[in-house]
Amino acid sequence: MATKRTLAELPGTTDRRIDALLTLLAENATIVVSGAKIAKEIGVSRQQVWRWIEKLRALGVRVKGHAHTGYHIERVPDILAPQLLTHRLYGTPFARRIYHFFTIDSTNTVAMHLGEAGAPHGTVVLAEEQTAGRGRAGRSWTSEKSAGIYCSVLLRPAIPPAYAPVLTLVAGVAARDAAAEDMDALPDIRWPNDLIASSKKFGGILTEMRAEPDRVHYAVIGIGINVNQTKMPEPLSGIATSLRIESGKSHSRLELLIRLLRQLDRYYNEFLAEGAAPILRRFAQVSSYFKGKRVRITTTGESFTGATAGLDPSGVLRVVRDDGRGTELVLAGDVAEAL
Ligand code: BTN
Repeated sequence: MATKRTLAELPGTTDRRIDALLTLLAENATIVVSGAKIAKEIGVSRQQVWRWIEKLRALGVRVKGHAHTGYHIERVPDILAPQLLTHRLYGTPFARRIYHFFTIDSTNTVAMHLGEAGAPHGTVVLAEEQTAGRGRAGRSWTSEKSAGIYCSVLLRPAIPPAYAPVLTLVAGVAARDAAAEDMDALPDIRWPNDLIASSKKFGGILTEMRAEPDRVHYAVIGIGINVNQTKMPEPLSGIATSLRIESGKSHSRLELLIRLLRQLDRYYNEFLAEGAAPILRRFAQVSSYFKGKRVRITTTGESFTGATAGLDPSGVLRVVRDDGRGTELVLAGDVAEAL
């Protein structure tokens, strides 16, 4: 079993003072702030400020000036820095504890360790880059540096594990609604939660949890969204896309993430208050896969074609088989459009 990580300072998290430096520059975007003032405010030497400025530049943050004249930022940086996020997430459980990494293996792996170590509901883990991003069914998730959103959220819902698929749908509709605001053509959701544009995938969700038969201890919802990738690497280019590839322009990851976490808060509360029904209704409104879609289902045991026939109350997909063997309840497996 992996060693537990402590909650206070996780190895590799972004130094809080870099976070403070970013926030200071972002909040004074139009004025020049002297190296000495920055050093004093965040409690480091001027040399250290200079080294961190260089690090930020290497990440694409456009900082003008130098130690003697002072620095200013050309535009608010698109780094998912906790201090830039917390006040925008005020009133949600996601504002309280945000861990940020420039590089990590997988935000889901970190969040699962945090879950085990007792981290509170709403803990968020973010990375600019993942070296071992994980997808569903043991696949990997390509996580180019500062191009996408790589986010895991720790939830402690008082629900039986049978309702966990609905949690995945909650995250799916939240991510879809958040992304839709940045898109000309409305995105689709391929059950359970692949985000689709122009028949290609631009986002996915990996839900992992620790549960007993009657209760969920904690669940980690890992959300990956391709935002500013200018091209997808082979062999993904035929099946994957990004918001930038679709629109031809770049998008603010920070704003998208804020919308995503706010929507997640809203749908999650709706689910707890009213059960699965409103989530299933929303899924039916926004997913062409809800009903009447010709699909090929591939599970570990078999592959068959059929037509979708709605979801059951726990979020499981119903598919009427073409081979006359009735309606199948699809709990897991790959769903592809069948022509
Ligand atoms: C899928 O296969 O569609 C799910 C992809 C989930 C990717 C995200 S990126 C953030 C989080 N950390 C991971 O290692 N995976 C999820």
